[in-house]
Amino acid sequence: MSKVYIETYGCQMNVADSETVASILKKSGYEITEDMHAADIVLVNTCSVRENAETRVYGRLAVFRQLRKANPDVVVGVLGCMAERVKEELITKQGVNLVAGPDSYRTLPELLAKSSVSGNAIDIELSTEETYAGICPTRLESNGISGFVSITRGCNNFCTYCIVPYTRGRERSRDAKDIITEALDLQERGYKELTLLGQNVNSYAFKTEDGRQKTLDRRQETEDGTPNRRRETGDTRQETWDFPRLLEQVAKEVPSMRIRFTTSHPKDMSDETLRVIARNANICRHIHLPVQSGSNRILKLMNRKYDREWYLNRIRAIREILPDCGITTDVFCGFPSETDEDHQDSLALMKEVRFDFAFMYKYSERPGTYAADHLPDDIAEEVKGARLQEIIKLQGEIGLASNRSDIGKTFDVLAEGSSKKSKVQLYGRNPQNKVIVFPMEDKRPGDIVSVKVTDCTGATLKGLQVSGVGYQVPASRG
Ligand code: 5AD
Ligand code: SF4
Repeated sequence: MSKVYIETYGCQMNVADSETVASILKKSGYEITEDMHAADIVLVNTCSVRENAETRVYGRLAVFRQLRKANPDVVVGVLGCMAERVKEELITKQGVNLVAGPDSYRTLPELLAKSSVSGNAIDIELSTEETYAGICPTRLESNGISGFVSITRGCNNFCTYCIVPYTRGRERSRDAKDIITEALDLQERGYKELTLLGQNVNSYAFKTEDGRQKTLDRRQETEDGTPNRRRETGDTRQETWDFPRLLEQVAKEVPSMRIRFTTSHPKDMSDETLRVIARNANICRHIHLPVQSGSNRILKLMNRKYDREWYLNRIRAIREILPDCGITTDVFCGFPSETDEDHQDSLALMKEVRFDFAFMYKYSERPGTYAADHLPDDIAEEVKGARLQEIIKLQGEIGLASNRSDIGKTFDVLAEGSSKKSKVQLYGRNPQNKVIVFPMEDKRPGDIVSVKVTDCTGATLKGLQVSGVGYQVPASRG
């Protein structure tokens, strides 16, 4: 039996996609291995969002070329966003045998067969329909505690800097019943947390095919081929599903799990979604709401479709409806024509919102985007670097203050593993998505533990177990 090794770069969506790939290949008789050197096939699932994400993959491809030198029968394949963006060049210049874009994974068994006959194979066709319906992902590299379920694929927003709409194609929402089946599958496997994934989860919109009432069908087989024996209830009643409805239904279907979701686009972040979180105790109090810039002029050039005032209004709604909600963001500096004043607007917005955490970047021009074609990448590298340092420094202070303000509070923490620094300590995350380290005592990964915060750094909270306070997920039924 051929063995496949899969390496994954980039966002959580890629992790979820690799699990879909593993499931497709297992069904076709391949075995998944975690040992690259034992593999007949090496697949790397890739990211194109910034240049350095691609540089990292090119470095790995050099390693895989060495692997093929030692054993020419090994097949090396590139999947995901770089497959879609770089195309044939991966074969002609990088010594890769197989190139498959994000919508081509069903054809992987044929592509592998073709590459073994003719040396290489490529399929980078994007689809307006492929949602990998009916494929239950094989959980890879997983801690068995926290899993992903993708709810949409692709993106229609065309932010001018972003390559994703070109590499992942048009936005499609997955069938609500597939999403619920995957959630139930995770629950049956003993998972304690799931994250609903999409480039813009808030725009989830699914219509049942015939437009009539349709009953959720739990007869889809689970990964190992055994029928899923869940009760066959839960008719959809309405024809259309939006995100708040999906979120609430998932929360109710898997009451023993904590629910997270990412990423939310500020333009579509509705009060209704916030109210769904508020009335379901097993939905985590955390919203990742990428702002990208605090300058209205830059937001317009970015085609983000909201302005600073709209964004701040959404933050106010979150704070009002969910007072204990963690708020995190993505922000980047050095977008074409960004002035110091624009940059100051970003800093001022960060000070005003006081994000608990932020992913912070420098603008990276992506060939093929609107910005690359129309807006010169005119901010000097030193200026980008200096602005990023200012952003990182400010967020460091705000993040530390946010962590300090948690000292004395008690959180329900889902333990995920033992701490890297000490075997007698566990680490986990609270609903706000902050990492907390605490003494293990009698608890194990997978347990929900009541932890009182006693200390912190900028990156982590430290705490002690306290008994009897924590709720057991859920308190949300009914
Ligand atoms: N340059 C820098 N950052 C980018 N992002 C997306 N495209 C680019 C780019 N061309 C960032 C955005 C997005 C996150 C996933 O990556 O902040 O939210
Ligand atoms: Fe890219 Fe904008 Fe779509 Fe996010 S919403 S994936 S930043 S185009």
